[in-house]
Amino acid sequence: MFSLSLCVPYMIMESHFSKTLVVAILVSLSVSLAPCLVLASTSCKFPAIFNFGDSNSDTGGFSAVFGQARPPHGESYFHGPAGRYCDGRLVIDFIANSLGLPFLSAYLDSVGSNFSHGANFATAASTIRPQNTTLHQSGFSPISLDVQYDEFYDFPPRSQIVRSQGGVFEQLMPKAEDFSRALYTFDIGQNDLAAGFFFNMSTAQVKAYVPDVLNQFKSIVKNVYDQGGRYFWIHNTGPVGCLPYVLARLPVLASQVDKAGCATPYNEVAQFFNHGLKEVVVQLREELPLAAITYVDIYSAKYSLISQPKKHGFEQPIRACCGQGGKYNNNLHCGGKIKVHGREILVGKACQDPSLWVNWDGFHYTQAANKRVFDQIVDGSFSDPPVPLKMVCHRQQQAH
Ligand SMILES: *[C@@H]1O[C@H](CO)[C@@H](O)[C@H](O)[C@H]1NC(C)=O
Ligand SMILES: *[C@@H]1O[C@H](CO)[C@@H](O)[C@H](O)[C@H]1NC(C)=O
Ligand SMILES: *[C@@H]1O[C@H](CO)[C@@H](O)[C@H](O)[C@H]1NC(C)=O
Repeated sequence: MFSLSLCVPYMIMESHFSKTLVVAILVSLSVSLAPCLVLASTSCKFPAIFNFGDSNSDTGGFSAVFGQARPPHGESYFHGPAGRYCDGRLVIDFIANSLGLPFLSAYLDSVGSNFSHGANFATAASTIRPQNTTLHQSGFSPISLDVQYDEFYDFPPRSQIVRSQGGVFEQLMPKAEDFSRALYTFDIGQNDLAAGFFFNMSTAQVKAYVPDVLNQFKSIVKNVYDQGGRYFWIHNTGPVGCLPYVLARLPVLASQVDKAGCATPYNEVAQFFNHGLKEVVVQLREELPLAAITYVDIYSAKYSLISQPKKHGFEQPIRACCGQGGKYNNNLHCGGKIKVHGREILVGKACQDPSLWVNWDGFHYTQAANKRVFDQIVDGSFSDPPVPLKMVCHRQQQAH
């Protein structure tokens, strides 16, 4: 274990210091560090990603089932709707790309999907806990995390039956051994908090059910482990109190707005959730001895875009780029149309240059913001343990 623990400083240095400095230090230590270096610099070569989540990482699931996200969604990259609530790519797209993998097909999308390098079970408006309301009543999806897991559960055996038919089928499904070598990614929880807020619960009432939400999250991760999953990459939840939709729709006193323009009470609940999630991750590391679990502080990466927009190249941190006007230009009608004298008129229009805006449609980030979030997290600066994305299969620094 001694030589392994030496790898930690190397990897941290890689992200914060110049390569020359690292090389200089390593040359002077070369003899003792040689075996460690080989290990530390070995990329994980994940053959696949299986993702679970909500709209922050939905690449077409909700659209396949409930109708496409309309233009101008997708305009900045896909030149048309691509099942994403964004003008372009999501953080999960940048993750897949940086691991040398294609964009993930949504599991629920039966048109043209290719699961050879993974599948995406995330759908927009999903919560961890099943909601007791329909999508129509409350706007929250019936495809909660437990349902996403049910979809996943049958996928390893069923995909192999299909794969064994050979030909094109072999190229559309993952290999049997990929399931234990894949990266399992999670970005979910924001809607569990939002559901309480939009059902008029107090922040104290929402906090009171957070432990139940986290317990359900924990049992799903354990189930995936029992199915053979070993490498987990878990995003915490973003600053929900900075979303234009929340700011415009929920009660916020002027005294509760911070310097960045965000609603402190809602952000406090998000941080309360994140604190609990981090504890769950610590418990999971103890309970799942063969797992390598990375906790990623998406909250801080996103909040930094909103509190220091200039530093990240943004001009507009709080207003939504695509909407229908008002102080926050919010309201989730991005791409919405109404009929006036028999003619369709677009009411939810995108801003001129989405690359200068952090928020896309009131609830989701622009591609430019997603890219900045990804750029901040990829080297491990926002991770626990602080390991670069391509190294997160190595378990050695997980001890706490
Ligand atoms: C839905 O109802 C069940 C049974 O009453 C309850 O246990 C569960 O907590 C409810 N779910 C939510 C999200 O309120
Ligand atoms: C599925 O995607 C993989 C990786 O991009 C590719 O090699 C393969 O040809 C694709 N399968 C089909 C049938 O297009
Ligand atoms: C929450 O309160 C608002 C304002 O009092 C009301 O319009 C809305 O219907 C309530 N929502 C729910 C889900 O009870």
